[in-house]
Amino acid sequence: MKKLVFILGAILIAPILSIPMNGHHSLVVRSAESSEAKESDKEASGNDKAPSVPQIYQMTIKSKISNRFAHTDVTSKVRNFANKPQEAVFSIILPDSAFISGFVMEVDGKNYTAYVKEKEEAKRTYDEAVSSGLSAAHVAVSARDSNRFTVNVNIEPQKKAAFYLRYEQLLNRLGGRYEQVINIHPGQPVKDLNVEVLIAESRKIVNLKAPPLRSGNEIGVENSELDPRADIEITNDTTATIQFNPNIERQKQLAHILGTKEDDGLAGQFVVQYDVERDPQGGEVLVQDGYFVHFFAPTDLKPLPKQVVFILDTSGSMWGQKIEQLKQAMIKILEQLNEHDTFNLVEFNSNTKVWDINNHSASIWFPRSNRWYYSDDDQTFLTLENATFPRAYPANADNIQKAKKAVEELKSDGSTNMYTALEVGLHLVEIEVLDKKSDIKRQPIVIFLTDGDPTDLSTEAITTKTSEFNSGPRKSPIFALSFGAGAGKTFLERLALRNSGFSRHIYEAADASLQLQDFYKQISSPLLSDVKFKYEPSVTSLTKTEFPIHFGGSEIIIAGLCGRIMPMPIVDGIGKLGKISLKPMITNSISNIERLWAYLTISQLLEKKESSDDEKKVTEKKALDLALKYSFVTPVSSLVVVKPNDTKPVNTVEATEADYSSDRIIGGIGYGASSSQSFPAGGPLAYYPQMAPPRFASAGGLVGGLAGGQGIALSSYPINAINTRHKIAATYRPPAPALSTTTRPSTTRTPLDVLFENLPWLRNILTDGFVKVPSGTYKLGLNETISDSVICAKTPDNQEGHCSLLHQCPMVHSMLQSQTDFFDHFCVLRNEFAGVCCPNSS
Ligand SMILES: *[C@@H]1O[C@H](CO)[C@@H](O)[C@H](O)[C@H]1NC(C)=O
Ligand SMILES: *[C@@H]1O[C@H](CO)[C@@H](O)[C@H](O)[C@H]1NC(C)=O
Ligand SMILES: *[C@@H]1O[C@H](CO)[C@@H](O)[C@H](O)[C@H]1NC(C)=O
Ligand SMILES: *[C@@H]1O[C@H](CO)[C@@H](O)[C@H](O)[C@H]1NC(C)=O
Ligand SMILES: *[C@@H]1O[C@H](CO)[C@@H](O)[C@H](O)[C@H]1NC(C)=O
Ligand SMILES: *[C@@H]1O[C@H](CO)[C@@H](O)[C@H](O)[C@H]1NC(C)=O
Repeated sequence: MKKLVFILGAILIAPILSIPMNGHHSLVVRSAESSEAKESDKEASGNDKAPSVPQIYQMTIKSKISNRFAHTDVTSKVRNFANKPQEAVFSIILPDSAFISGFVMEVDGKNYTAYVKEKEEAKRTYDEAVSSGLSAAHVAVSARDSNRFTVNVNIEPQKKAAFYLRYEQLLNRLGGRYEQVINIHPGQPVKDLNVEVLIAESRKIVNLKAPPLRSGNEIGVENSELDPRADIEITNDTTATIQFNPNIERQKQLAHILGTKEDDGLAGQFVVQYDVERDPQGGEVLVQDGYFVHFFAPTDLKPLPKQVVFILDTSGSMWGQKIEQLKQAMIKILEQLNEHDTFNLVEFNSNTKVWDINNHSASIWFPRSNRWYYSDDDQTFLTLENATFPRAYPANADNIQKAKKAVEELKSDGSTNMYTALEVGLHLVEIEVLDKKSDIKRQPIVIFLTDGDPTDLSTEAITTKTSEFNSGPRKSPIFALSFGAGAGKTFLERLALRNSGFSRHIYEAADASLQLQDFYKQISSPLLSDVKFKYEPSVTSLTKTEFPIHFGGSEIIIAGLCGRIMPMPIVDGIGKLGKISLKPMITNSISNIERLWAYLTISQLLEKKESSDDEKKVTEKKALDLALKYSFVTPVSSLVVVKPNDTKPVNTVEATEADYSSDRIIGGIGYGASSSQSFPAGGPLAYYPQMAPPRFASAGGLVGGLAGGQGIALSSYPINAINTRHKIAATYRPPAPALSTTTRPSTTRTPLDVLFENLPWLRNILTDGFVKVPSGTYKLGLNETISDSVICAKTPDNQEGHCSLLHQCPMVHSMLQSQTDFFDHFCVLRNEFAGVCCPNSS
């Protein structure tokens, strides 16, 4: 099951709690870098010994997993030891497949319970709050494929508060095991930190372990120093408890190894892995209270031979680290092809090239046979009918060797013409399927990788045309990989879902090559195609029952309502030896199945809503009804905390950012009442990565209302780690010094003059606003402000960075002594602008 990208849970708000506050600094800011914040903190404090933030004295995370369905309860208890009110931040990262299903906040001995409401309704509450001078939260990132939930609340001197959050999710089986990943990041060392995972399955638990902690932003070798030394207690074959309770010293030690500040406490992922012993054939069906669930992961099937068509983007923006990582990954992937598999190598940029691995110069360029888009001398066009493409190569040692050589030769240049490439790829499938002489039937698999937006057609047109073209003998599942922040993630997700595949995002980071290999592993072993599940006709409310392919290492899960009748399932599919029919075992479930069914149904409805335009409204309504009934916070519902009547309106701001890779933490900054900035409706908060120091700005609604106010703001946003991190920016905010004044010094120098002054060599490579670099010609973009977060390899001072226009990253100018320095740290923005790798901390 693939998660979708969407706005989860929207914004929630809650005017709540009025604890009178003195002083004019209504916000307590915790930021390692913002000196402004620290000063204001001190000023308001008056108590130098007390910690500057409320202390979390207890954090308990308890996850119960039964039938692969996990519900996790997070409890955080804080106390304000200072003699002034302080803001407590409760911030939890959850996997993006999880739905929040409950939240209670206990302040001053009173419980405030959150309710799940329709998103529109929650939005209205939010808007009303904003227009009456309240503000809401915003959020940033910290682990891949995850969401963050944040609540801020003020606590009176010497008082306590507690937060109780529950989320639920169905564990996805990958690589032959389930993985429960628990994010721990209290933001400070915690005296009593306790994580407990309880597993109760119907079948025997096998391969149970708690591997080393992870940062959440990198895959690769496990670091044995990060061994959680968890307590694993196996009660019996089907029940186990895993405990992790590091003391403060150990938390600091782990923080240190994970690369965060010791004083910020542990920030990482505790992981529990296991699998269950399974039925070798039709799987297990568990029944309880009129619901059933069917787990299908046969163990005694041999993989189907496959025909893999690799369609790889080699446009200009792949230049540099990305293409190198792609090559590395492709070399490993080619080595993993099985002997009965076949493959083709297709690259695309302005034109599409089908590689002839035996004779490179016999490779076919399509549709322009003259192979160079820009050239006018040869206008010979090919059509799918009259072009002679290289045939699929058997994956023998000799061909693999040749293909690796071809991969080594890939170069990036040109634009991103996607549709033709997809058409050619599917055509290559068709040629093999129609070949009467072929003795083996292979499962076609099209792998499509790109790092940018299409330059030939709109994304909608590509999705529609590809889905239409992908039919008949050439029909093949398409697996789409979006590589880096510049790739159209949502578009590729749709493209894949509409074409019986799924998509993955490859984060642009040092481990990109490993991520690619990891993805390939998931689809390398198709066991069955055309899998169809049939049940007794009286069974209703079934989740999806037809699957184009079942891959080894994964699991298909179906749930439904069977009443008092046995569901009597039959699984049909096409295996290596032809058609087969399998029967599962039916037993009673050890736990309730209803919520699992609701969760799976909602997830699939949301997926359907994203991937197809048919009945969008109806699908959404169904998802909403179920989400409300079962209290799941989903992309169509939101969480709202209601304010007690007797309180006067309050104001807050907050913004959060926790980034495992840096020591910045959480900041919320409000500006004085004299500020006259106004911000468009886009978002109450804006974060501008290019400004120094990193900061958050709050929206108009709260400006001026800060004094004496406090309250709470909740939010839950999709955050795809690195990706959206800097996208929160919506408006331009002048750097700090300009805030106190409404005018900015004017100068007569143009921005270009400034660039030339700082970067004299720029004159040599700049013509009419275009910069010439070895990989092509790109716009300088002086009139542009681009705040996309495109992560880049290395900044001139060797840090992690994001790609930025030259004029938006003045801090690296002094490090770019020559054009060679620039070329070394060059990156492409939006496929057309020249960028430089700019430190995130700038
Ligand atoms: C508030 O709710 C939590 C969680 O449901 C519960 O443990 C706690 O006892 C409640 N506190 C009060 C004061 O009712
Ligand atoms: C295993 O232990 C759990 C918890 O003590 C118990 O509920 C369950 O019935 C036991 N299962 C078996 C097969 O003994
Ligand atoms: C390789 O292909 C080119 C272009 O089709 C052709 O001219 C040449 O003879 C081929 N070389 C070999 C060794 O087959
Ligand atoms: C292929 O067909 C197109 C369209 O009919 C034609 O323009 C082109 O010249 C043909 N190419 C070759 C190599 O025959
Ligand atoms: C709070 O407001 C609600 C709705 O406006 C009302 O029904 C309720 O009686 C009020 N409670 C108090 C304690 O005033
Ligand atoms: C940038 O803006 C200036 C002033 O409005 C204009 O003269 C110039 O043509 C613009 N440059 C580009 C590349 O759009």
